[in-house]
Amino acid sequence: MEADQNRTPVLETIQQLREQDTYTFALPGHRFGLGVDDHTAEVLSRDTFGADVIMAKSSVSDAEELYAQAVGARQAVFTTCGSSISIHVGLLTIAGPGKTILIDRNVHKSVVASLVLAGANPVWLRPSWDEARQVAHPATTSVVEKALEAHPEAAGVLLITPTEYGTGADVAGVADLCHARGIPLMVDEAWGGHFGFHPDPPTAAVKAGADLAVQSLHKADGGLCQASMILVGGDLVDPVDLRLRLDLITTTSPSALLYGSIDGWRRHLALDGKELIDGALKRAAALRERLGAVEGLRVDGAELLDTEGVAEWDPLKLCVDVSGLGITGYTAKSWLMDEKHLAAQLGDARRLVFSLTYADDDAAIERLATAVEELAARPPHDDAPAPRIPPLHELDLEQAMSPRDAFFAETEQVADPVGRICAEMVSPYPPGVPAVLPGERFNEAVTDYLRAAKAAGATIPDASDPELETFRVVRSS
Ligand SMILES: Cc1ncc(COP(=O)(O)O)c(C=O)c1O
Repeated sequence: MEADQNRTPVLETIQQLREQDTYTFALPGHRFGLGVDDHTAEVLSRDTFGADVIMAKSSVSDAEELYAQAVGARQAVFTTCGSSISIHVGLLTIAGPGKTILIDRNVHKSVVASLVLAGANPVWLRPSWDEARQVAHPATTSVVEKALEAHPEAAGVLLITPTEYGTGADVAGVADLCHARGIPLMVDEAWGGHFGFHPDPPTAAVKAGADLAVQSLHKADGGLCQASMILVGGDLVDPVDLRLRLDLITTTSPSALLYGSIDGWRRHLALDGKELIDGALKRAAALRERLGAVEGLRVDGAELLDTEGVAEWDPLKLCVDVSGLGITGYTAKSWLMDEKHLAAQLGDARRLVFSLTYADDDAAIERLATAVEELAARPPHDDAPAPRIPPLHELDLEQAMSPRDAFFAETEQVADPVGRICAEMVSPYPPGVPAVLPGERFNEAVTDYLRAAKAAGATIPDASDPELETFRVVRSS
């Protein structure tokens, strides 16, 4: 039976508990905000504490059912520690200790952490390298097919789509390959929570045949930070296994605020998503055209679909190459923040990326357009040279040990890691993809690249030595 998408079980429970004048001698200790001091309440709002009603978790399963129906999934599971934990749960479900899993190498660091937790062995799929734009797109279907032929023991495939730059894989094609072998396809769809609420491409992963899709609802969507979603499609993933894996690693005190934000956002998008996203797409198209006409800027558009590895493209990701202004994206991003108080999603060696959403109104888009025009008219001085980004094949590293064995091995810090086995993740941000990860053997290209990226302005938040003077390697390697 079609459920009523007007309903919001979690929000209704929070409201009801308030209206009933419920008091608690359990948690939360702040007693729905009664014990909160005025300064905290002034900044966070007393209502925030008023909605922090742990009892609301009893209505989450009804809210999950509504969500699953709204996006055409078999099952929806709300999680409250970001997509990082959803990815751990998904990977632990499809690939346990010693299992082989094929993974696009363009992974977010949470995928590598999942491999360490699960003790699974990755077979890396090389992403498609776009030499003209100096950026990686998803691995092609034929790369996945060859890897599946070479690894009949694979327990599953994991793709990251869309990338932080908005380019998407051929999920339907890869799902067919997986299903022909009876194994599941998991998709890290962290940036695509809204895809299921609009008929235009990009196609939502579960609609395209993915068996598991993980989404960060706080990224391009309306959830509070850490609100995340696991969607199950098809019948290759056991929903009970998934719940047990989640139970293994999640909190027993999830935030009702996060659950409520997911519930309310689903209602909003289920009722008005088509219209809201149509508006965002229209504004994005006009902005793209306006900035595309500015001298020195190159703005990516639908022509990306002619590029290898790009089966889908997200028009709400606005990628603006600023290298024609003689500056890096790092400098441009800092300038926008310092001078205009505008935060870009990312600034890399040569471009800015803005995540546009249904929440941006005409005034916000005008503010962004004017600021970028001003940046182009008077680019700031840039004395840090852009790092040379080596073609991906130079960064192909031997996976000499399993990520888990390397991570837990005896380690040491060395200034010259070339030839040694890495025992940590080193992920220049942006885009947060580990350039080297536990078990991979350092080569010269990756070592030079990391140090050059750091010198040019990338931050390396996860390295044991953030200055990159030394790296953590396996002692015996
Ligand atoms: C592609 C991708 N996957 C997973 C994550 C992790 O998401 P979260 O920050 O919600 O834990 C991110 C975060 O940036 C991401 O970009």
